Amino acid sequence: MSINSTFSSYKSEGWDKLSDSTLLKIGGPTEPFSIDALNLTIPKEKLNEKIRILDIAAGVGNLTIPASRQFPNSEIVATDYSKCMIDSLNLIIEQNKNNIKNVKTLIVDGQNMVEIESESFDYCFSMFGLIYFPDRLSGMKEMYRILKSNNQSRTSIGSWQSDAFLPSLLEKTYEQVTSGSGGGLKLTSKQPALSLDDKVLFKSELEQAGFKNVVIHSVKHIIKINDLEPLLSPKNPIVDDFFKLINYENIDKFKETFKSIANSLYKKDENGNYLSEWNCFIGIGEK
Ligand SMILES: C[S@@+](CC[C@H](N)C(=O)[O-])C[C@H]1O[C@@H](n2cnc3c(N)ncnc32)[C@H](O)[C@@H]1O
Repeated sequence: MSINSTFSSYKSEGWDKLSDSTLLKIGGPTEPFSIDALNLTIPKEKLNEKIRILDIAAGVGNLTIPASRQFPNSEIVATDYSKCMIDSLNLIIEQNKNNIKNVKTLIVDGQNMVEIESESFDYCFSMFGLIYFPDRLSGMKEMYRILKSNNQSRTSIGSWQSDAFLPSLLEKTYEQVTSGSGGGLKLTSKQPALSLDDKVLFKSELEQAGFKNVVIHSVKHIIKINDLEPLLSPKNPIVDDFFKLINYENIDKFKETFKSIANSLYKKDENGNYLSEWNCFIGIGEK
């Protein structure tokens, strides 16, 4: 069986379930990568300028919120196709309204952003969002369309590398859990979380969308994880994709195997926290 368009991580309802979880909270595992992307994409001299930033598939704002602090004079539009994600982000903005004054939100599919005017943004980002679009090229072409034609605008996309902690462990676990039936099964198509784990493909898709001077940066962060159980929630569509593949009655076996592989592959600190390694590519292209 393959991971295909019927799976949770390809659907807004799949992501709706994650919006109130602790996994995607502000300051969650994706935030340090978003800060890297901001620093790699927007030149320092723009810090106080009135630039326009679009965050596509923003989730609960792990790029939007640091960007609003780092670029206080910018105008930021945070978008996502999950209404629940945008509701959670709106709540965070409301609770911090004295500090966050430059963010608007919009529910829109990143593959077809009809509400967003062409040539209207200086920078656009999609951190670990566009990788879940069934039609990534449409998403990249939309990014190209909405950027200004001023030889300065840039797009920036974050994708997981194949050895990133959660996607890599899920795949290893799947292979081990299915080995009981005579030989571990390999996935017959890439899991959506790893859809852009190939640097050469990543660069060529950005170029096909029209971007020039494309550079794919490699970035790594070690994140301390105290408890693996919350990572294995079916609320996380990336995990639910695998639960569907192995059938729900095998979830306990899957979780046990996942934890035992994590124990064998990752070191722990003196407080028992896993030192999980997350490797990502940040692909940047100029219009
Ligand atoms: C792993 S989360 C990343 C959120 C945030 N960018 C971050 O780095 O924390 C993936 C997000 O992509 C959104 N997403 C997936 N496909 C989308 C699409 N076609 N259009 C807009 N948003 C989408 C999901 O709703 C979810 O909020």
